[in-house]
Amino acid sequence: MANTKIFRYYVITLLFLFTSTQYVVTSLNGSTLCIKEEREALLKIKKDLKDPSNCLSSWIGEDCCNWKGIECDNQTGHILKFELNPYLICTRNASIFSPSPFRGEINPSLADLKHLSHLDLSHNNFQGISIPEYIGSLRRLNYLDLSNAYFSGVVPTHLGNLSNLHHLDISDIFSSVSTRDLSWLSALSSLQYLSMNHVNINNSPHKLFLAVNKMSSLLELHLSSCSLSFLPPSSPFLNITSLSVLDLSGNPFNSSIPSWLFNISTLTKLNLSSSSLSGLFPSSLGRWNLYKLQNLDLSSNYITRNITEMIEAMSCSNQSLELLDLSQNQLMGKLPRSLDQFKNLFILDLSKNSVNSHSGVSGPIPASIGNLSNLGSLNLEGNMMNGTIPASIGQLSNLYSLNLLENYWEGTMTNIHFHNLTNLISFSLSSKKNTLTLKVTNDWVPPFKYLTHVEIRGCQAGPTFPDWLRNQIHLNEIILQNAGISGEIPHWIYNMSSQIRNLDLSHNRISGYLPKEMNFTSSNHPTIDLSHNQLKGSIQIWSDVRTLYLRNNSLSGTLPTNIGKGSIPEELCDLPSLHLLDLAENKFSGSIPTCLGDVDGFKIPQTYFNYSAPPSKYPGYVPYTRHTELVINGRIIEYLKQMQVHSIIDLSKNNLSGEIPVKITQLIHLGALNLSWNHLTGKIPSEIGLLKDLENLDLSHNNLSGPIPPSMTSMTFLSHLNLSYNNLSGRIPLANQFGTFDASIYIGNPKLSGDTLRTNRSSMLPGNGEQERKHEESTDEDDDKTGSLGLYASIAVGYITGFWVVCGSLVLKRSWRHAYFKFVFDMRDKLLDSMAVYMARVKRIFGLERN
Ligand SMILES: *[C@@H]1O[C@H](CO)[C@@H](O)[C@H](O)[C@H]1NC(C)=O
Ligand SMILES: *[C@@H]1O[C@H](CO)[C@@H](O)[C@H](O)[C@H]1NC(C)=O
Ligand SMILES: *[C@@H]1O[C@H](CO)[C@@H](O)[C@H](O)[C@H]1NC(C)=O
Ligand SMILES: *[C@@H]1O[C@H](CO)[C@@H](O)[C@H](O)[C@H]1NC(C)=O
Ligand SMILES: *[C@@H]1O[C@H](CO)[C@@H](O)[C@H](O)[C@H]1NC(C)=O
Ligand SMILES: *[C@@H]1O[C@H](CO)[C@@H](O)[C@H](O)[C@H]1NC(C)=O
Ligand SMILES: *[C@@H]1O[C@H](CO)[C@@H](O)[C@H](O)[C@H]1NC(C)=O
Ligand SMILES: *[C@@H]1O[C@H](CO)[C@@H](O)[C@H](O)[C@H]1NC(C)=O
Ligand SMILES: *[C@@H]1O[C@H](CO)[C@@H](O)[C@H](O)[C@H]1NC(C)=O
Ligand SMILES: *[C@@H]1O[C@H](CO)[C@@H](O)[C@H](O)[C@H]1NC(C)=O
Ligand SMILES: *[C@@H]1O[C@H](CO)[C@@H](O)[C@H](O)[C@H]1NC(C)=O
Ligand SMILES: *[C@@H]1O[C@H](CO)[C@@H](O)[C@H](O)[C@H]1NC(C)=O
Repeated sequence: MANTKIFRYYVITLLFLFTSTQYVVTSLNGSTLCIKEEREALLKIKKDLKDPSNCLSSWIGEDCCNWKGIECDNQTGHILKFELNPYLICTRNASIFSPSPFRGEINPSLADLKHLSHLDLSHNNFQGISIPEYIGSLRRLNYLDLSNAYFSGVVPTHLGNLSNLHHLDISDIFSSVSTRDLSWLSALSSLQYLSMNHVNINNSPHKLFLAVNKMSSLLELHLSSCSLSFLPPSSPFLNITSLSVLDLSGNPFNSSIPSWLFNISTLTKLNLSSSSLSGLFPSSLGRWNLYKLQNLDLSSNYITRNITEMIEAMSCSNQSLELLDLSQNQLMGKLPRSLDQFKNLFILDLSKNSVNSHSGVSGPIPASIGNLSNLGSLNLEGNMMNGTIPASIGQLSNLYSLNLLENYWEGTMTNIHFHNLTNLISFSLSSKKNTLTLKVTNDWVPPFKYLTHVEIRGCQAGPTFPDWLRNQIHLNEIILQNAGISGEIPHWIYNMSSQIRNLDLSHNRISGYLPKEMNFTSSNHPTIDLSHNQLKGSIQIWSDVRTLYLRNNSLSGTLPTNIGKGSIPEELCDLPSLHLLDLAENKFSGSIPTCLGDVDGFKIPQTYFNYSAPPSKYPGYVPYTRHTELVINGRIIEYLKQMQVHSIIDLSKNNLSGEIPVKITQLIHLGALNLSWNHLTGKIPSEIGLLKDLENLDLSHNNLSGPIPPSMTSMTFLSHLNLSYNNLSGRIPLANQFGTFDASIYIGNPKLSGDTLRTNRSSMLPGNGEQERKHEESTDEDDDKTGSLGLYASIAVGYITGFWVVCGSLVLKRSWRHAYFKFVFDMRDKLLDSMAVYMARVKRIFGLERN
């Protein structure tokens, strides 16, 4: 899904790079003004820095005023400006988008540059050193940027000596920077720009607001994710006359929004997203005095208010408002006609206001929306809206993203709804009641040419495959799920396959054979979901597919068994990056190919995020993710594409026979293995304990015999196990996680014995998620009562490690969201939901709380 915030951020980043490149070219003059002592100081600084991209290669010769990042006073020769920011000084390299940060130490001879007025050390990796105190001796500084340079520790009070500062940025998304006392901040009364995002200020919020109020010329205040838990009930900024940008997002205020925030008439941007702002607005508000407001972001709070009242209150800013983000609240009521007063509105996001099936923005889209001629992005996903979609939406010639997912739309959308949408690049539509039809004429050629994302779910877009997509050669995501499509997969899909990342045609009535050839590109990590259709014939293994779902079709034939000829280049085991194989619920017969044990994709630990060690290329950049569902152990588990929890093999409900190949135990990072409902025989491989990352193992409903291998007790991640309905014998192990498993997972194995069975030979049948969950909870309680801490410890150590790797990186980035990327956290919430059962087991002991 094209995300507007990413889009904007890219644009900003590009602008930033262009302007900076220009700066490097024009700002320097080849004079020999350079002062010897300052030159030597620079060389000492260079010596202590690691410079992987060789950005300081120009730092040679006498003429230091001509070195990259240096600017001298043209009269005295003193260095005035020093920019050690890889984005500014490394952009001439070929790798324009990813200069490597400087690492290492900052030599204290920096303090010899006494005449510096502008110092920029941002976007580096100083590996957690403290902000150097001697920066406080650079008395002439008026611009200091230490942001995202991976400093840590307490902000030195010495910064308070910099009384000339206009611009101070110590924000750091990787930060563990905190403040102890804020007296230094109150000394900086000339500040016009202050950014302390992600700096922990929670111990002195009152003093913070007092200090800020001394800065009477302040224009921008960025205090996102500072762990502030206090928002003054009356304005703390009475002394500030021209505040333009206020960002208090991501702080745990846990209060209602005080009215003074809507009374700062100079504000152009106000960001209060993700700040635990709750309840109704003070009803006395009436109209706000935000005459110049351009951006208002109140997303991800608990605001319960009628959207009509909100729009009414905002009407003071009717011509200036460009961005309105009220997503992920609990708004209700209908969108008023008067919405069209915001003539300059560019982004309107009201998504996900439906917290349950009775709340959310309701009613139809007012036809007046067609008057918002500047609208670029409209997101109404996840509300209670119904009625027909007005044809006037087709007038929005600047619209590039239209998201109408998860509402109760009715009626028909036709060509007219797209009449003037020449700039559309992302279109998403779903109706929860399946009461909407997308009906365009057969020969329709859409006005847009750059569609990259199309997503239609639960609507009638058939009966044949939508032919109007044929010429959209830039498509990389095609999701036509449950869209009433029958007939065959069109040939022209081949023509766009080289850029496809996601092709989801599941839950239709698509028949015929799988296309013989596709031209997928491995770097796109293509995910192909053709499950729940009527496809027949044998399986095609297209090269370069990363994830393939064919569940619930009428496919037949055998799984490829030969390797090394794997002459058949499309063979399964030849897909080196395959790490999610779901062929469940088909008619595959034969044995499980031994060569699966050689597929590297299942062996490599999956990276959860594509970000390298901090600082990343783009601060806060996280690749787009989408969750996917897998039925494991009768329970739907949601995983995240791009941050796969672990690799997965699901071959359940087929006609597979033979033994479980021992080689499968080489896939040491496999996270889930489901071989249930087949005709497998022989023993469970005794080395199965090598699968140390396995969380889910379902071998139920086969003919496996022999004992439960003792090595399984070392699989400490294993939280879902089902061995029922086999022919296993011997004693059930008791160690480690086996102590927590319920008797039902062994049912149907009359030769098994063990204490577990005695406690409760449950009548419960496995495979019923609801019952299992209940049972699991009760097991937890029992464990709690007996207080078997030793047992917990062994599970929990494994669990905590796993949890931290998966969710820890997400939690780390909770703060990132507030800056740009909240969608990642929708995903996190889903992930945490699916992990709730794991959590239940340990949180009482370890005090882990959701959020
Ligand atoms: C640049 O430096 C040269 C000496 O190398 C000097 O002659 C010239 O005037 C300088 N130009 C400017 C614009 O300072
Ligand atoms: C010297 O610098 C000042 C201010 O930076 C600028 O206005 C002036 O044009 C410069 N003079 C030369 C000769 O470059
Ligand atoms: C700078 O500030 C520190 C701490 O506030 C103080 O101890 C020191 O004397 C100051 N240095 C100068 C040169 O003023
Ligand atoms: C208001 O700002 C001025 C100038 O910065 C400062 O001297 C004064 O202390 C401030 N007043 C309050 C109440 O903070
Ligand atoms: C938020 O505030 C409410 C009432 O003001 C309080 O009951 C609740 O515990 C607070 N929650 C947090 C997380 O502080
Ligand atoms: C809003 O500001 C005006 C002055 O600009 C002041 O008189 C009024 O009391 C303020 N209202 C609120 C609710 O803070
Ligand atoms: C919108 O703004 C214009 C100009 O500021 C004003 O004249 C008009 O009355 C406003 N409309 C509404 C509905 O507030
Ligand atoms: C658009 O605005 C004009 C006047 O500004 C109004 O007459 C018209 O009804 C509006 N269009 C719609 C579809 O509401
Ligand atoms: C939309 O939903 C509301 C509330 O459920 C209902 O009263 C109304 O009739 C619906 N409108 C349409 C056009 O179905
Ligand atoms: C479509 O857009 C063009 C230019 O943006 C405009 O001139 C034309 O009137 C629009 N047509 C409709 C039907 O909105
Ligand atoms: C695929 O692209 C080729 C070359 O552009 C074209 O000749 C062919 O007609 C296309 N096939 C389909 C089915 O559109
Ligand atoms: C496959 O895709 C590549 C681009 O990734 C393209 O250059 C090539 O022509 C395509 N091959 C065929 C046979 O269409």
